[in-house]
Amino acid sequence: MKTQVAIIGGGPAGLLLSHLLYQAGVDSVVLEHRSRAQVEARIRAGVLEQGTVDLLRSCGLGERMDKEGHLHDGMKIAWAGQESFFIDVRKHLGKRFMAYGQTQIQEDLHAASDARSARILHEAMNISLHDVDGQAPFVTFEHKGRAQRLDCEFIGGCDGFHGVSRKSIPADVLREFEKVYPFGWLGILSETPPLDDIVYANHPRGFALASMRNPMLSRYYIQVPLDTRLEDWSDERFWEELKARYPKEMAERIVTGPSIEKSIAPLRSYVAEPMRHGRLFLAGDAAHIVPPTGAKGLNLAVSDVFYLSRALASFYATGSAELIDGYSDMALRRVWASVRTSWYLTNLLHRFPDSSAFDQRAQEYELEYLRGNPSAQLALAEQYAGLPFEETAGVAATKEKGEEA
Ligand code: APR
Ligand code: PHB
Repeated sequence: MKTQVAIIGGGPAGLLLSHLLYQAGVDSVVLEHRSRAQVEARIRAGVLEQGTVDLLRSCGLGERMDKEGHLHDGMKIAWAGQESFFIDVRKHLGKRFMAYGQTQIQEDLHAASDARSARILHEAMNISLHDVDGQAPFVTFEHKGRAQRLDCEFIGGCDGFHGVSRKSIPADVLREFEKVYPFGWLGILSETPPLDDIVYANHPRGFALASMRNPMLSRYYIQVPLDTRLEDWSDERFWEELKARYPKEMAERIVTGPSIEKSIAPLRSYVAEPMRHGRLFLAGDAAHIVPPTGAKGLNLAVSDVFYLSRALASFYATGSAELIDGYSDMALRRVWASVRTSWYLTNLLHRFPDSSAFDQRAQEYELEYLRGNPSAQLALAEQYAGLPFEETAGVAATKEKGEEA
């Protein structure tokens, strides 16, 4: 087989990359080692930044999102024994958020790839990348019991944190930055009406989060120790613990019901640099992981893929490698902004098992500062909203000219 861009991984990053490349007239093949049903069954975060929403709309993936998603304006912070406050992103920046599950985005991406008869090979096993720093990279794998080879000009490494792409970058080139947090999140989905806002709670019993997918689907999380076993958490126990972490009037408004999904996720921050080696480009979780606090993971995958598709499209259209050469630095600027924000929110809102009385006081005064200070709220709103996608020098210059005229 032969293509212009071989894409490893058929999650949100890989499929969106293939979609955007198609729209730019660039051919790709996606190799995914799981089945389509397994990929669609993953339940993950579901809060889209305005930039993500705009991009999905502009590339024709916004129709179902606009019908089924739920717009909201910011986030509420509840803080045990103190008054709750709202970070109003819409008021400060005119930007909104869309609650729309990654599961639905994955389905929409599959539907769009069916519509254009995209080459997506599921259950492609033992994928291995070759000659990524040469002129003619290729990928070998097994599919339906047969050994296969895919020749290509570029490789998009979109195969998540445990994939092969990042591992194909030599150890003396790759720099890794990591932080592991001493707790996890126990999350449930339930077919009950959510609270009106996304509410983050800082409580002596631990962090809690109330989120939503649509008017009849709620997503809740609580901070749990790392050795927590799912089987020890009945729905009843979960609801009781969740409510104990919210102020009374909010707890009373939480509508409980049977969970339709329940899982535990550890929290980690991780960044690999650079995001490019030769003709291999990393995007999404393959290059970075954020703790879920702030829901930045999917949004970062989308901005990486936007930058990468634009760079490859520009290369094929003009022959210029300028954007390709700038990809890693440009993507990393936005990555680190969100990595820092999710680390900050994780520190602000969780109870750390090893925190000292000093740490605890500093956290309380940080919350107090935020609650009472509009400029601090504006600064957080800016970070929570996500940085705008960077324009290229060419586009910026054209705009400036227009403004001058
Ligand atoms: N070969 C082929 N495919 C692989 C391999 C491999 N060796 N390893 C992993 N994959 C596939 C996975 O099965 C998965 O479908 O790559 C895909 C990666 O998808 P994600 O893990 O969802 O990562 P990404 O597409 O970057 O999306 C980022 O996922 O974790 C969330 O918060 C994150 O929402 C963000 C999104
Ligand atoms: C979610 O809805 O899953 C969600 C929302 C906000 C977060 C993290 C996760 O910060």
